[in-house]
Parts: sequence; structure tokens; C-alpha cells
Amino acid sequence: MCYHPNMDFHSSRRRFSACLLFCLCLMISISRAYGTQKMYIVYLGEKKHDDAALVTASHHDMLSTILGSKEEALASITYSYKHGFSGFAAMLTDDQAQDLADLPEVISVTPNQNHELMTTRSWDFLGMNLDQQPPNLDHQPPNKLLQRSKYGEDIIIGIFDTGIWPESRSFSDHGYGPIPSRWKGVCQLGQAWEGTNCSRKIIGARYYPAGLDKADQEANYMSPRDINGHGTHTASTAAGAVVEGVSLHGLGVGVARGGAPRARIAVYKVAWQTTKRVELSSIAVLAALDDAIHDGVDVLCLPIVLNDDSFGALHAVQKGITLVYGAGNSGPRPQVISNTAPWVITVAATKIDRSFPTAITMGNNQTLVGQSLYYLLKNESSSEFKPLVHGGSCSGEALNDTIINGKVVLCIFENFGPTQDILPEVITNVKSGGAFGAIFALYTIDVLSSTDDCLGMACVIVDIDIGFQTATYIGSQRLPIVKIEPARNITGKQVPAPKVAFFSSRGPSVKYPTVLKPDIAAPGVNILAAIGDGYGFDSGNSMSTPHVAGIVALLKAVHPHWSHAALKSAIVTTASTKDEYGNPMLAEALPRKVADPFDYGGGSINPNAAVDPGLVYDIDPRDYNKFFACNMQKYKICNITTTLPGYHLNLPSIAIPELRRSIKVQRAVTNVGNVDAVYQSDIQSPIGVKIKVDPPTLVFNATQKVHSFKVSITPLWKVQGDYTFGSLTWHNEHHSVRIPIAVRITIQDFYADVA
Ligand SMILES: *[C@@H]1O[C@H](CO)[C@@H](O)[C@H](O)[C@H]1NC(C)=O
Ligand SMILES: *[C@@H]1O[C@H](CO)[C@@H](O)[C@H](O)[C@H]1NC(C)=O
Ligand SMILES: *[C@@H]1O[C@H](CO)[C@@H](O)[C@H](O)[C@H]1NC(C)=O
Ligand SMILES: *[C@@H]1O[C@H](CO)[C@@H](O)[C@H](O)[C@H]1NC(C)=O
Ligand SMILES: *[C@@H]1O[C@H](CO)[C@@H](O)[C@H](O)[C@H]1NC(C)=O
Ligand SMILES: *[C@@H]1O[C@H](CO)[C@@H](O)[C@H](O)[C@H]1NC(C)=O
Ligand SMILES: *[C@@H]1O[C@H](CO)[C@@H](O)[C@H](O)[C@H]1NC(C)=O
Repeated sequence: MCYHPNMDFHSSRRRFSACLLFCLCLMISISRAYGTQKMYIVYLGEKKHDDAALVTASHHDMLSTILGSKEEALASITYSYKHGFSGFAAMLTDDQAQDLADLPEVISVTPNQNHELMTTRSWDFLGMNLDQQPPNLDHQPPNKLLQRSKYGEDIIIGIFDTGIWPESRSFSDHGYGPIPSRWKGVCQLGQAWEGTNCSRKIIGARYYPAGLDKADQEANYMSPRDINGHGTHTASTAAGAVVEGVSLHGLGVGVARGGAPRARIAVYKVAWQTTKRVELSSIAVLAALDDAIHDGVDVLCLPIVLNDDSFGALHAVQKGITLVYGAGNSGPRPQVISNTAPWVITVAATKIDRSFPTAITMGNNQTLVGQSLYYLLKNESSSEFKPLVHGGSCSGEALNDTIINGKVVLCIFENFGPTQDILPEVITNVKSGGAFGAIFALYTIDVLSSTDDCLGMACVIVDIDIGFQTATYIGSQRLPIVKIEPARNITGKQVPAPKVAFFSSRGPSVKYPTVLKPDIAAPGVNILAAIGDGYGFDSGNSMSTPHVAGIVALLKAVHPHWSHAALKSAIVTTASTKDEYGNPMLAEALPRKVADPFDYGGGSINPNAAVDPGLVYDIDPRDYNKFFACNMQKYKICNITTTLPGYHLNLPSIAIPELRRSIKVQRAVTNVGNVDAVYQSDIQSPIGVKIKVDPPTLVFNATQKVHSFKVSITPLWKVQGDYTFGSLTWHNEHHSVRIPIAVRITIQDFYADVA
């Protein structure tokens, strides 16, 4: 009980102690009501009203009972989630959050988190105007899936990113029909964004700035407009219209177009440029997911790292949306993969069959080859020899005593690590010294776009051994010199591809170890796409994610009634595990190795096979709760005793993280090919494991469209083992339906895990 200040005080002493007590009480109640408030996400599950206004009103009521008044509730609530699911984001003290969590209708209360976009490149805006011809659809390269899907016309792809640059030619709506009538989204106006910025191509745009401070607001357009370039790049990769003759100074020449060039784009700007990086928060992503469900999006492209919004993504899936996330750029370490919920598609990144060889010639006429995006300026007719110096690691310290003005600097990174993170700093060091160019010697990784910051400097990436040869030359000369030729571009079979990119995050999933992740790999290295009014290269899982989103849009156009699980299955089971020469695909790592399912899931995406997969592993989206309620912070609906092991979910893969004795795993396949079909099983057992399938043959006809089968998995020895890999393929003369298998034999619990 607190004293009231109007109490009658007889002695000064009593007055003093009463006052002290009163102040204490006041402080306690202040800290309860106002003390360190944090943003919390309160999740209530399915919404209880169809009317969104009623759902929001119920949120205000609930919050009012906890905070004491309607006014405080309105001041505290930031987002009300009311379309696809029920919940809200609000500023709360820890005690208030606890009080809410204790309410029976509340499923979870979790603190908001900030996340990063997935990219390996720094965020300098790289815009350049190219004078090119208007788009021309007739010159489309022939492609079965593209044509069958009518280039994705009338499929709506939602992009969760930094917004969009609507003036880019990649977003011209020339020749588009009316906006699909089912579309219920809006064109939210804002700074440098008018109603006319939406079109028949960009059919909707929203932005979610909650939590940005004043400085961050000033660094951004407070509208769907993209100041950064990232969202424009990903949107044009997923759904950019056809733009011919796009290149960067003659490099990577070709037709720029998205995977689904006729698909419609819905922009959800959830990521914001801050002084240091690009940030996004869980509360904004949930608000955008809620809106996307309302608006009628078909496919969502989310090149972002998220760990705590699984319920939002699950609701979107249950409402018929297919979600495509990136695996992350924390590779090649294992167990770092993000976004591994079984209901989303998680994409790894590969290198494509294009490279940009660049000749560097020393004063002794020795010529070595690296890679660069270097080109001659208009007033330069040929390359010239320049003085060459050794800059060591090219840290500020290492360059301190070296005069590099007008010279080419050799930088050697002997420590193997995430070089893409070091490069921007080193480039700044070299640039501020006035260098003409730089040769960066790294262990084999190819992240050319990390040299974007070189703008105006000749930056070449070479393998570490070429770096050592160059150093030897420098050591042997009094006045070492070097000439850097402009980059050439070669494509096709000379470049072994695809190959899993160094930075691509690897499995297994820590949060969902019974779900094999990633699902699929797609191109994500040196991708040329729209940035501002021009085009530029970029690398990262942000680039591979929209490739898959575009392909899913095409598949959805051909198969409008397929579930998200059927679409994912089609992509995974038809993927390729070989390179263009039929050799096993490799993964960049240290050391380089043959890729396994934790690098690429089913393999490298094969869109034209995915449109006709033969069989699919389908899942009723309600099943996810049976298996994974306990992973989703839904503690109130989680019952450990009735939760089934995740590996029984009908996924197009099998992952057994702890195999102690023989187990049987259930799967079912649905025939989506010819009605009468016979499939035989083909098993590649992982080392140390015996796998059997029962029945080994599946016969489909007009009445028997779905077949269940059992996969028994038996350890052959008792060890505390590592993961080993295999596959199960159902095949007939037309189809090969392959799923990857990862198994680890254990005899005791793992404490510190090593993949
Ligand atoms: C978008 O709106 C701005 C005004 O805010 C206008 O200057 C610009 O031309 C518009 N762009 C397109 C593609 O309509
Ligand atoms: C390098 O080649 C040029 C032209 O072929 C020749 O003139 C020059 O002498 C050579 N230099 C050395 C060091 O071999
Ligand atoms: C070429 O032009 C750039 C600026 O565009 C200038 O910095 C450079 O000095 C010029 N080079 C020559 C050889 O004139
Ligand atoms: C470079 O050298 C100067 C003078 O020796 C020193 O004051 C400075 O801290 C050094 N800078 C770095 C980055 O090491
Ligand atoms: C790159 O390749 C294209 C097509 O093969 C070619 O037209 C272009 O000249 C090449 N650019 C350079 C700089 O080699
Ligand atoms: C979990 O399920 C079991 C079996 O149905 C039941 O006995 C138990 O009460 C449930 N526990 C909770 C917390 O609901
Ligand atoms: C399909 O196969 C099942 C069992 O294999 C059989 O019972 C059924 O009669 C067949 N239906 C047709 C239409 O052939």
C-alpha cells in the first residue's frame, strides 16, 4: 500500500519517513509502468474476428487491462497484426510483458529483435545510366517453363527489402494487362513517392518505419523508394521486365530480366539504411507479413535473416503463400544457416558459369590472371605499367610507412576468413593513400562484387599462390612495375559451374535438426541487376533468394493449385547435384570439397525439370503444428509428449540427427505426372547406415494417386559419428524424383556439437 501525500503528518519526522515511503512507492510504480520499456511481440494465434477493426479493438482492450487505461494502450501499441493472424507489437516493461504472457489467450510474448539484410557487399550506391533500347519480349530465350507460365504473368511476388526504384527500366509496365482483380494491396504515399509510382508492374508498395530515430529517418526516403539499391536489385532479379543490352562497361553483357519477367511486384519496405548498416526489426517484418496475407501476394521473397518470426511465416504459408528465404552469408562454417523452418524454402548460393579474367603483366613480361571488374576510362586508350609495391596485409598500420600514391599495391590475406568483410576496410586504406590500383591475394573465393568500392581504382582479385608469385617478383626487382589489363568476360563451359559459393551458410539447422537445410541452391555470385537507374553486380544470398522466388512464381503460374510444399518438393527433387561436365558439384570451403546436402540441399535448381517433377511430397500446412509447436515459442500449445519427431513430416528430404537404433520414417508421394505410372526406388545409403524402402515399387493409376511408404534406417555400427549423406530416388523412364538424406549415428547425447 502506498501513502497518499494528503495524509495528515504530525511530526516532521513522521512526515519525512512518510515522504520517503511515498517517493519509494512512486519510484516503484514508475518503474513498473514506465521503467525500461522494450518493444515486445505479443502473439495470440488465429484471429477471432473476420473484421480487422474488431481484432485491433480487442488488442487495445487487452492492453488496456494490463496498462490501466485506453490512452496508455494506444500510446504503447506500435503494430496491430489483424489480417493473417492476431497479435501486436507494443512498448512494455518486463513486468507488463510477464502479465500479458500470463493471460490464457496469449500464446507467446517475445522481445523484438533487429536483423540484417543478407549481403556481402558494402552499401555504396552504384548507379550509372546506360543508353539502351526499349524492352522487347519477342527476344526471350526459348524456355519451356517461361513459356508455359506466360513469363509469370499475373503472379504477384512480394519483396521484403529496402524498397524499390520505380524509374528503373526493369520495372516498366509497358504491355501489361490490368492488375489482377484479387489484389487488395495499397500504394502507400510518402517522400518522393506518388501514386503514379505504382503501376501495372509495381502494383503495391508499403513501408514500415517504426523504431527509426530522426537521424535514420533523414538518411532514408520515408516512403517505399529505395535509397540503398538492394531492394531494387533483388526485385529486378525476381521479376524484372526484359531489358536488353545491359552491362557494366561491357562486362556481363546481355538481356537483364527477372526469373519471372511478367510477374507483378508488391513492395514491402522493411529494411532501412542506418548510419552503419541496413537494419530491419521483427515487428516490421510481422506487420508486412500480416499485410501481405491481406493483400493477396502469391510468393514472398525475403533475403533477410530472421530467427523469431516463425509463426508469422507459418500463418502466411497456411494462407497459401510460398515463402523464399536466404540461407545467410556466414559460410562456409557449418551450423550457421538461418531461416530453417520447415514451412519455408531456404536458398543457398552458387557461382554461375561466368568469370571476368583480368591479365596482370609484370615488368619481366610474366603474365598472371586474376579477376576484376576493371575497365578503361573513356580518355584512356590502353593500360600502362605502374610502380608496384608490397602492402602486406594492407591494414592502416601495414601501409603506414609505404608510399602508394599512383602505384599498384599488393595485399595478401594469409589468414583464411570472411575476406568479404575485410575488403571494404582495406580498399578504403588503399584508396586514401591515392593508389592507382590493388591486387588482392586471397584463398580461392570469388566475391568480385566486394570490390565495388574500388570505383575508379583498378582492383584485381587473385588466388593466394599468384599473390606469392607477385611478391617474389617484387622482391627480385629494384623498381617493380605492373600493368593491369581491362577485364574480359567469358561464359559457358570454360568456367566450371555451378559451385556452392564460399559465403553461403551451411547446415545443419540448429533450431530444426530434423529438417534438412538448405533446401536448394541458386546463382548468387556476381549477379547483374538493377540498382537505381542503372545496373550493377552484387553477390550474396540476397541474390540467390530472388532467383528461386522468380522460379516459384513461374511454377505457380503453371500449377496454380499446388501447395507450397508441392512447389518446394518439385524444386528439391529435380535439382542437380552435378556440374556441367557431369562431375559432382563442388563447394568452396577450406579445403574445397565435394558439395553435400548441408551445402546445397537437393542441389542446384533446375527450373525446367521442376515444372514436371512426376511425384511430389505434399504437406497439409496444419501438420506443422503437430511436429514443431515446441520450436516456435508457442509453449502454451506445445505438448512434448504428443509432439512427433520432425523427421516424420512429409518433407522432400530426411534428416536424422541422432540415430541410435533402427527407425522407420514415413513418407507419401502424390503423382502429378501421367495417371498410370510405375516408379522404382533407388537408394544410396549413407556410409555406416543401411536404408530400405517398403514397398520398393509404387504403381499409380486413376484411383491410386497417393502412395505411402516406409523408409527404415539402421545404423551398421555403434559410434559417436559425424553426418553422412545419401539419397532416395523414385524413378521411371521420364522422371527421377530424388531426395537427400543426412544421418548421424550417436551412442550418447551430444554436448558440444561438431558437424
Ligand atoms: C514517381 O514520383 C515522382 C514524384 O514523387 C516523380 O518525379 C517520378 O517521375 C515518378 N516515377 C515514375 C516511374 O512514375
Ligand atoms: C618484354 O616484352 C617486350 C615486347 O615483347 C620486349 O620488348 C621486352 O624486352 C621484354 N622485357 C623483358 C624484361 O623480357
Ligand atoms: C581521364 O579522366 C579522369 C576523370 O574522368 C581523370 O581523372 C584522368 O586524369 C584522365 N586521364 C588522362 C590520361 O587524361
Ligand atoms: C602511422 O605512423 C604514425 C607515426 O609513426 C603514428 O602516429 C600512427 O599512429 C600510425 N598509424 C597507424 C594506423 O598505425
Ligand atoms: C563480354 O562478352 C560480350 C558477349 O560475348 C561481348 O560482346 C563483350 O565485348 C565482352 N566484353 C568485354 C569487355 O570483353
Ligand atoms: C499432453 O498430452 C498427453 C497425452 O495426450 C496428456 O496426457 C497431457 O495432459 C498433455 N499435457 C498438456 C500440458 O497438455
Ligand atoms: C489402381 O490400383 C489399385 C491397387 O493397385 C487397384 O485396386 C485399382 O483397381 C486400380 N484402379 C484402376 C482404375 O485401375
